[in-house]
Amino acid sequence: MPHRPETSSTPDPLAPVRSWHRLRADEGDAAVVLDGFHALKHALRFGAHVPVALTEDAGSVLDLADALAPDLTAPLRTLLDEVPPGTLGTLVPRAHPTGVAALAARAGAPAVPRSGARTAPLVLLDDPRNLGNVGAVVRLAAGCGAAGVLTTGGTDPWHPAAVRAGAGLHFATAVARAEPDALPEGPLYALDPEGDDLRGLDLPEGVLLAFGTERHGLSPALRKRADRLVSLPMEPLVSSYNLATSVAMVLYHWMSRRP
Ligand SMILES: C[S@@+](CC[C@H](N)C(=O)[O-])C[C@H]1O[C@@H](n2cnc3c(N)ncnc32)[C@H](O)[C@@H]1O
Repeated sequence: MPHRPETSSTPDPLAPVRSWHRLRADEGDAAVVLDGFHALKHALRFGAHVPVALTEDAGSVLDLADALAPDLTAPLRTLLDEVPPGTLGTLVPRAHPTGVAALAARAGAPAVPRSGARTAPLVLLDDPRNLGNVGAVVRLAAGCGAAGVLTTGGTDPWHPAAVRAGAGLHFATAVARAEPDALPEGPLYALDPEGDDLRGLDLPEGVLLAFGTERHGLSPALRKRADRLVSLPMEPLVSSYNLATSVAMVLYHWMSRRP
């Protein structure tokens, strides 16, 4: 049964918007933008603290929760603040079709496990450029049970567009930046079309799986440092797979051989 839109829970409908701006100004990158229902859903499910959640139509968000995440209908009823039409478009670059945006405290997100404490693979994206790829890889890591995702280079893996593409699963697996000369310990397997065919390999415990940048592939430094180069089978004349697709193939291979 559809929810009737709630009346605004505060006398001043712009008060929640002021809270948003205050948090963004005070907390900077520590306040993670959750753009869309799925990002908010996963952040809540994985224990993120969400101090502000705004919508222009609380009834439709609660209907969505009923349909897709009934576990969250009650918490969202308390959490959501309704704001005037057109507000969301001023807070996020491209308001999500699900019509909700929120801020979460990054402090609650999982930390990268120490090398010795890690058995699952840790994914390393070397200087990725595409935020959609970064988000897709975070989503894969969360779904497959990888230890997390590290990125080198200038792209922020917590950028709102990466969190949106990752459906908020940044709160389900470790996501952090790494310096190329201070990578975590552990065997380093780098993915490259010239390596050994993945299908014949068992990945060692705690392996660091490195993937090259979208345009240029693996950096010479990473290729040199790798304990092993690993390839994904491809038909002749195909030069490479998409970055996130490559990560999916390797993590699926690891999952399918896991005891
Ligand atoms: C889009 S590809 C990079 C393509 C780049 N133009 C090149 O020449 O390598 C991004 C990354 O995905 C991985 N990758 C893609 N196809 C692969 C394959 N067939 N075997 C191993 N790794 C692959 C590699 O780590 C690669 O650096």
